[in-house]
Amino acid sequence: MSRPLQLDPQGRLRHLLSMDELPRDLIVSILDRAAEFSEAVSGPDKKLPNLRGRTIVNLFFEPSTRTRSTFEVAAKRLSADVINLQVSASSTTKGETLLDTLKTMEAMQADMFVIRHDASGAAHFFAEHAAPGVAILNAGDGRHAHPTQALLDLYTIRARKGDPAGLRVAIVGDVLHSRVARSDIHGLRILGCKDIRVVAPPTLVPAGIEHMGVRVFHSLDAGLDGVDVVMLLRLQKERMLGAFLPSAAEFHRDFGLTRERFARLKPDAVVMHPGPINRGVEISGDLAYSERSLILDQVANGILVRMAVMDMILESRESGIGNRESKGGGGGF
Ligand code: NCD
Repeated sequence: MSRPLQLDPQGRLRHLLSMDELPRDLIVSILDRAAEFSEAVSGPDKKLPNLRGRTIVNLFFEPSTRTRSTFEVAAKRLSADVINLQVSASSTTKGETLLDTLKTMEAMQADMFVIRHDASGAAHFFAEHAAPGVAILNAGDGRHAHPTQALLDLYTIRARKGDPAGLRVAIVGDVLHSRVARSDIHGLRILGCKDIRVVAPPTLVPAGIEHMGVRVFHSLDAGLDGVDVVMLLRLQKERMLGAFLPSAAEFHRDFGLTRERFARLKPDAVVMHPGPINRGVEISGDLAYSERSLILDQVANGILVRMAVMDMILESRESGIGNRESKGGGGGF
């Protein structure tokens, strides 16, 4: 499905839409490129020339703090020009279709679109209709996928805990509504992680998730037993049409990471959360930024993996037409 859209005939990244069909080697090379960028931007001058003269449009139809701003920082660190389209102020509220918005921005010679939309499949739609030289990066579509979040999570796990293949990872909370969970599971599986647990009340577990190669637990204590990584998810109240839970307090009691539960984890287990956090719901507030919390590392690493993805997409597009200049940092590390 996404593979012919995401990859060019040489298997290089053309758009980034979802994790499920990305080859292992490509994921590893994105993470390696991100690690190289970490070195390259560690000094006071954080700007690299790789995307100079390119225009990136951030097209967000849903709210975002971390994802939108780290995409913007990433693009600016690579010297791109960035347009942030506030959708509430754009013509879509006047009835313009998604396609018209895309074509209007393309006419301004945008090179890449970073898109977040509440409809699953929106990024695929854009990729199907984009002009040949234009790349689409999915920044979250409905409940479907959030591939750069998965990449930054994999990067963060690898940096702190080593190869995910040997780890036990628990994904806890509102899996039903979470595009992050779906993309993380795909990414972890592709990198060889064999012990992935989904821990949630039955109402927040998607039917058939076992087929993704995970084990489902409805008890947090059993699910957290011996884990190396606890990935907490936000209760996505805005996507809860019906009554999925008696109350947030009850969720915290049964599925929240409390101090007592934290104390029973392995001493080197780490805690992650894509944000935004509901303090006192998924996690007790005093654990959010503890020494074993990687939540702020995730934010910082988001810049690096987004730089890597944009750089690799540009590289594959330009090698296709043979005019990529030698631009320090771009693939030549
Ligand atoms: C996530 C998202 O939007 O899917 N947040 C993020 O991108 N950092 C998760 C969430 O909203 O809970």
